[in-house]
Amino acid sequence: MDDRLDFIYKRRSIRIFEHQKEVEKEKLQELLKAAMAAPSASNGQPWEFVVVTDPDKLAELRRRLNYGNYNATAAIAVLANLGIAKKESSFRFWIQDCSAATENILLAATALGLGSVWIGGYPKDDVTGVLHEILEIPADIHILNLIYIGYPAEEKPAHTKYEESRVHWQKY
Ligand SMILES: Cc1cc2nc3c(=O)[nH]c(=O)nc-3n(C[C@H](O)[C@H](O)[C@H](O)COP(=O)(O)O)c2cc1C
Repeated sequence: MDDRLDFIYKRRSIRIFEHQKEVEKEKLQELLKAAMAAPSASNGQPWEFVVVTDPDKLAELRRRLNYGNYNATAAIAVLANLGIAKKESSFRFWIQDCSAATENILLAATALGLGSVWIGGYPKDDVTGVLHEILEIPADIHILNLIYIGYPAEEKPAHTKYEESRVHWQKY
């Protein structure tokens, strides 16, 4: 693994966080700038984000999300609003656009010394239903996921899931 790509290999799903240590607002803003640096189909940029740092809201998210009961001090929900998308393409490609934005957030978090984990939303209606309700997201806005962000309280080794057998050169 090439050291220059450390921030990629060091990104791991972190599920235990320093619960007293808040994420600085400047760092959260940097993550959002990284998110909105992502590629986007026809540059349609349908994305919007809900940033949550309120301890009561975070507690409610933990309580209601079966696969998202982690003690992070911040969370970002990644959304698509097709009403403000700059291009028709976003109707077909919002999942890819929002996924690219999400990966940028995860990688930027790692580079800034933060831990993160992607909690799958769409197409799980039970999860998106909970997020619509708690975060007061209108029904016509799509929710790709919730990303928990915080200072990590667990260490995981850098890794790649590289398997040579998955790679085909020149033809399948
Ligand atoms: C679409 C998607 C949905 C995921 N949903 C959850 C989730 O609901 N809860 C969770 O703890 N982790 C979730 N994860 C994180 C994966 O479990 C994790 O990426 C995987 O186990 C590999 O570990 P790594 O991220 O450390 O490489 C999700 C990841 C993706 C890409």
